[in-house]
Amino acid sequence: MNFKGRDIISVRDFSKSDLLYILKIAKEMEKEKPKLLDGKILATLFFEPSTRTRLSFESAMFRLGGKVLGFSDEKVTSIKKGETVWDTIKMAERYSDVIVIRSPVEGSARLAAEAASIPVINGGDGANQHPTQMLLDLYTIQKTKKKIEGLKIGFLGDLKYGRTVHSLAIALCFWKVEMYFIAPDALQMPEHYIKELREKGIKCHKTSDVFEVSQKLDILYVTRIQQERFPDALEYEKYKNAYRLDITLLDHIKKDLKIMHPLPRVGEINAELDDTEHAVYFEQAANGVALRKALLALVLGKEK
Ligand code: CP
Repeated sequence: MNFKGRDIISVRDFSKSDLLYILKIAKEMEKEKPKLLDGKILATLFFEPSTRTRLSFESAMFRLGGKVLGFSDEKVTSIKKGETVWDTIKMAERYSDVIVIRSPVEGSARLAAEAASIPVINGGDGANQHPTQMLLDLYTIQKTKKKIEGLKIGFLGDLKYGRTVHSLAIALCFWKVEMYFIAPDALQMPEHYIKELREKGIKCHKTSDVFEVSQKLDILYVTRIQQERFPDALEYEKYKNAYRLDITLLDHIKKDLKIMHPLPRVGEINAELDDTEHAVYFEQAANGVALRKALLALVLGKEK
């Protein structure tokens, strides 16, 4: 399989064999490979805040022997002087070998890929897609449950604006899984995603009550309420405390349930759950390094 030169923009760009191949390379990337990307440069262009995506891409590049340049705030770039994002990309491609971009604007990663002749990786575009998160989520599910096929997966929180849920739900359609969408009505999984999932043969269930379904689940994928995507601050206030999982959850789950979260969390999982065998969210974030090492090596044609 050849990923050299490919852009990583959307879950829809992958076949099942693509996904399995990336997961296989990610497992290999758990090993030290300190010279693999010697001489290569990653540009990280972050127009929106990030901790995990930016730092784990940087860590991945450093651990493979490459170098990193970039910015985490457009205020320090010439965009503030009126330069377009398109021209910014045309510059970055001349200073680097691969670009990771994060932006609040849906479709911006696709636009960057059109502008650049080097590989572009989408680090999250608005409420649309977060494909590298989707890949590390799949990797984490496979690693912790030893399989994906047959799992019952609950998604809880802000399913309307949560781009990680959108990407992961579509990717999971390659396996026979059952999905439970747990959210207040106003923040439920958009209907066009439910329609697509059902057309692909996925059994989907919707509820606002986590305890109604938690006993059935193998994975509970929690998300925060995405304050920055709400057009109306009062609406956010209404839903910000919709879910607060604490130790009482343990009375309502299977003993091998794993709790995932793309992070950051803002109160929806109480820290008292962190030390239970169910919590895998920090491990999930850590898996981002191996997975992103794999992606960088693959798009630069250096995975072997
Ligand atoms: N999960 C995730 O994308 O985290 P950051 O926003 O910190 O990158």
